[in-house]
Amino acid sequence: MDIKVEGKSIAEVEADALLVVGFEGSAPGGPASGLSKELYDSGEFSGKPLEIAILHRPAGLKVKRLVLAGAGKSGEFTAAEMRKLSGAMLRALKPKGVRSIVIALEEPFRSDDFAAAAVEGALLGDMEANRYKTDPKKNEKQVASFAVLGGSQAAVDRGRILAEAQNFTRDLANEPANLLTPTGLAESARKMAADYSLECEILDQDRMRQLGMGALLGVAQGSAEPPAMIILRYKPAAKPSSKDHLGLVGKGVTFDTGGISIKPAEHMDQMRYDMAGGAAMLGAMRAIAQLKPAIPVTAIIPTVENMPGSRAQRPGDIVTSLSGKTVEVLNTDAEGRMILIDALTYAQRLGCTHLIDAATLTGSIVVALGFVNIGAFTNNQAFLDKLMAAAKAEGEKMWQMPIDEEYKEALKSDFADLHNIGGRPGGSVTAAMFLKDFVNDLPWVHLDIAGTAWLEETKPYMAKGASGVGVRTFVRLAQNW
Ligand code: BES
Ligand code: MN
Ligand code: ZN
Repeated sequence: MDIKVEGKSIAEVEADALLVVGFEGSAPGGPASGLSKELYDSGEFSGKPLEIAILHRPAGLKVKRLVLAGAGKSGEFTAAEMRKLSGAMLRALKPKGVRSIVIALEEPFRSDDFAAAAVEGALLGDMEANRYKTDPKKNEKQVASFAVLGGSQAAVDRGRILAEAQNFTRDLANEPANLLTPTGLAESARKMAADYSLECEILDQDRMRQLGMGALLGVAQGSAEPPAMIILRYKPAAKPSSKDHLGLVGKGVTFDTGGISIKPAEHMDQMRYDMAGGAAMLGAMRAIAQLKPAIPVTAIIPTVENMPGSRAQRPGDIVTSLSGKTVEVLNTDAEGRMILIDALTYAQRLGCTHLIDAATLTGSIVVALGFVNIGAFTNNQAFLDKLMAAAKAEGEKMWQMPIDEEYKEALKSDFADLHNIGGRPGGSVTAAMFLKDFVNDLPWVHLDIAGTAWLEETKPYMAKGASGVGVRTFVRLAQNW
């Protein structure tokens, strides 16, 4: 889809569809006002969120269709609502054969944030997970161009870069595990890094053995697929004014059977998105390479397949992590934290001063927060506040969860330094406490995205499957540094 700025006025613009935003209780102003007034007066359109009304051959305009896009109350209309609205409109218009869309931004919604959000919504809404459908008709109806009337080129470019990065993440996380192994994920990272001039280094199994990444290797040993540690580096062109160095660590389990502590069959297919945290970090790096923030950023993505093969680790096994601490593996399904602790330790060796990890870590966070909010944990409130401000601006919902030494009791092992599960009560918190033991008081945020990285059902603005959550927030945080 071609993304651009539209220079002509509403009266002069030509397209298959011109979108104008209609709020509850007030018809749009300008050249579309007379046309939409009748729809409001008759009650056919009231401006409720995501409502749509289509007028063909609107008098006085050159477009083929005028589309009234319901935006709710004008006082509550944010860039996040704009993103959803533009996605929902694109998804409604595409099956009707509409090939060119122009969205008109009017004051006070003519800012860069709204323009970028409109573009993001369109590109996110356009993506379908249909690459394995062989029906040749699947590509018949495509929107060829999407333009923003009243947006700047910089904002439209930013929106395109962010949405393409998020779709890159979604594509990776949607990929079935037979077609995206740890080696495959590392290859995708290597190719992306080459395309966008990032430094890329992949640690293979032998190298990880030399280094002593026993926690990660213990998880990997049950699979015929070798593990990898993916490292991508972005360095700003100008010498940074501080020593700050952001580390983005993402869980990259390409499939989680649970290992010997095997999961039930129902919904196990979804465990192909257990690398969504790693994929989010790859997407963020793809956008960071193009938007060039002032701070150095390194992504560290441990990737493994958690399988119950004959060499698999057993409950009760004790492994030595890269940090030197020993861990008793009471449940092989608590594998995410095992690979993350070696990655968090390695991130510190690479010089990161601030750490963010994103992981589909626990079912417990889904119980606590459902599919709406990311669970956020931190040992440094100021750092989390910065991240949450970026998340709010990007319309990605996060809710802070506690960090509290009292929960650590549950991780005490009789035979090793700690064991890897804390029982059912507060499962997402004990998982976070486990990770915290390995960050040595560096400012750190842990994001449990188990509930938010996957859409169970298609939304009006986005197709079912991987959501790409996190990408936009991490990029904004780096840019705001
Ligand atoms: N990948 C799962 C967590 C998960 C659950 C992600 C649902 C997405 C949706 C993780 O590796 C896991 O199995 N966690 C266990 C931990 C338990 C054994 C302590 C869990 O949450 O049940
Ligand atoms: Mn698991
Ligand atoms: Zn997992």
